[in-house]
Formats: sequence, C-alpha cells, structure tokens
Amino acid sequence: MISVSPVAVQPDFQPVLAPRAAEVITATCTLPGVAASAAAARKFTWRVLEAAGVSAGGEAELCASELAGNALEHTRSGQPGGIFTLQVTVSAQGVRIEVRDAGAADGDAPVVSAQCPPPGAERGRGLWIIAALSHRFQFTPGRAWCEFDLPETAPMLIPQ
Ligand SMILES: Nc1ncnc2c1ncn2[C@@H]1O[C@H](COP(=O)(O)OP(=O)(O)OP(=O)(O)O)[C@@H](O)[C@H]1O
Ligand SMILES: [Mg+2]
Repeated sequence: MISVSPVAVQPDFQPVLAPRAAEVITATCTLPGVAASAAAARKFTWRVLEAAGVSAGGEAELCASELAGNALEHTRSGQPGGIFTLQVTVSAQGVRIEVRDAGAADGDAPVVSAQCPPPGAERGRGLWIIAALSHRFQFTPGRAWCEFDLPETAPMLIPQ
C-alpha cells in the first residue's frame, strides 16, 4: 500500500549536473514518498540522460520508475513524510540508476526475487523487468541499482 503525504512533486524541477571527474556526471534528487514520485523518477532520469546526450532506449527511465515504485511500496520511504533518493550517473561506459530508500517498514530482511513470476501473478514483475533490461542489477536493503552499458560507438556529449 502506498501512503500519500501532502508533499507535492515539483513537476518542473531541473537536475543539477555535477561532474565528478573528466568523464562522469552524477545527478541526484530527493523525492517525497508519494505515488507521483515514480513518474517523477522516470522524468528526472530522462532529463539527465538528455542533458548528457545519451540514451539507453528508454529502459533506464523505466527501471528508475520501477526502483522508485519499490521504494514507495515496500519501504518506509512511502509512508507519510517519507523520502527516497535517486541518483543517475553517466560515464563513457554507461548509465547507472540507483535508488536509496528508508528500509522495510517492519524492519525484517526483505524477501526479494527477480525471478519471472508465474502466469497470472499480479505482482512481482518489477525486479524481473529490471534484471532483464539492465546489464547489471543489485539489491541490498535500502539500496538498489542497475547499470546499462553504452555502445562504444555511442556519441557522448558531456557538459563541461
Ligand atoms: N526497495 C525494497 N525494499 C524492500 N523490499 C523490496 C524492495 N524492492 C523490492 N522488494 C521486495 O521484492 C519483491 C519483488 O519486487 P518486484 O518489484 O519484483 O515486485 P512487486 O513490487 O511486488 O510488484 P510489481 O513491481 O510487479 O508491481 C517485493 O514484493 C518486495 O517484497
Ligand atoms: Mg515493484
């Protein structure tokens, strides 16, 4: 169950690109624990990748919203007043999407599976989608990330 707090998502927020090294840019945003933040995560990712001049074919954006949705639904980040952070990193090698959340609400170690659920199952496809679309994926309590390699020939336009 996603709890909705009165904190509003700013629809036109702009990512601030902060180059950490010659060929790496990192953009981070903190989003409120409301349902709209899953779409906001997708939009933020798209804006960062657009600003960096790269594309993972929309797959990075989709995975960002799946990771955000999990933070909202399965952790305290989705409870009233909760927040989570999304970090998008772009380098010459690829794109990394990372979500840090507030941890499972009950404090128990989460039961996580990226296996394809049985036909007819209404839940349990998010991590399976991420594992299928990304080149690397990892979940640890409070932190999940996935990476997308970019073709070596892909044009890279890194803001200076
Ligand atoms: N950030 C997280 N913290 C704690 N548990 C998580 C987190 N992300 C996923 N899980 C656990 O892993 C399970 C599988 O996640 P997955 O995204 O594949 O499915 P879902 O969220 O249950 O459903 P769907 O994404 O298809 O709507 C979840 O049901 C939950 O138990
Ligand atoms: Mg999910």
